[in-house]
Amino acid sequence: MSQAPAPTTVPHHVAIIMDGNGRWAKQRGLPRLEGHRRGVETVRTTTFAARDLGVKMLTLYAFSVENWKRPQDEVGGLMGLLEYYLKKELETFIRDRVRLRTIGRTEEMPSSIQKLLRTTMEETRHFNDYTLVLALNYGARTEMVDAARAYAAAVAAGKEKLNDGSWATFSRYLYTADMPDPDLVIRTSGEARMSNFLLMQAAYAEFVFTPVLWPDFTKADLAAAIADYNRRERRFGLTSEQLKAPTAAK
Ligand code: FPP
Repeated sequence: MSQAPAPTTVPHHVAIIMDGNGRWAKQRGLPRLEGHRRGVETVRTTTFAARDLGVKMLTLYAFSVENWKRPQDEVGGLMGLLEYYLKKELETFIRDRVRLRTIGRTEEMPSSIQKLLRTTMEETRHFNDYTLVLALNYGARTEMVDAARAYAAAVAAGKEKLNDGSWATFSRYLYTADMPDPDLVIRTSGEARMSNFLLMQAAYAEFVFTPVLWPDFTKADLAAAIADYNRRERRFGLTSEQLKAPTAAK
């Protein structure tokens, strides 16, 4: 008797650390920016690949607070690519009902990009089937500082009571306030570290590290990461037995 395949659970929220653009370019004797340019193409294909596979939210680490320290021409090149991408994608987002959101200190991004972000977010805010979240000028530690500051201000204003402090309350001050935590975090290019990305939100995420460089990342690689995720048992601090008999966990 053949066994029915186990049902596949698609992670609701997938977050990706897109790494390896520079190495992809170097392997081909091309300038680093060419790697980033190809990386933008992969952003495009992955946005739709994730949705085809049933993912509801995709967060991409596009620019970190630390990335400003890269050579000025690379930073300028990345900003140029981002601007080009946002200009080009607005119509696609509207046509394909993709909601765009951001996390990070976007108020420190170039004003032309801020403007494009505002327009795109405004025009797509009513789509609620699929959301693309761009992490821009994002850092988990910066996010924590911003949240602590906002929380302290709310306590001082009498809007929050210090003694009621819980994660549920405090997390409302994070950039991700109304977003679900990521279920699966993928990092490309063979590096196995978090690089200041969603440190608190990924507390119970599954991690998949793939050697594929970001410009080469395909829908099949994403599907493989989801298959890997499906082989894991997410226990959220419980035991395997408790998960099998959920009432025993109460
Ligand atoms: C890491 O590769 C990638 C980045 C620092 C930026 C990611 C940016 C893009 C994919 C393009 C812009 C994004 C959007 C949304 C338009 P790396 O340069 O660190 O690669 P390396 O480790 O091989 O040098």
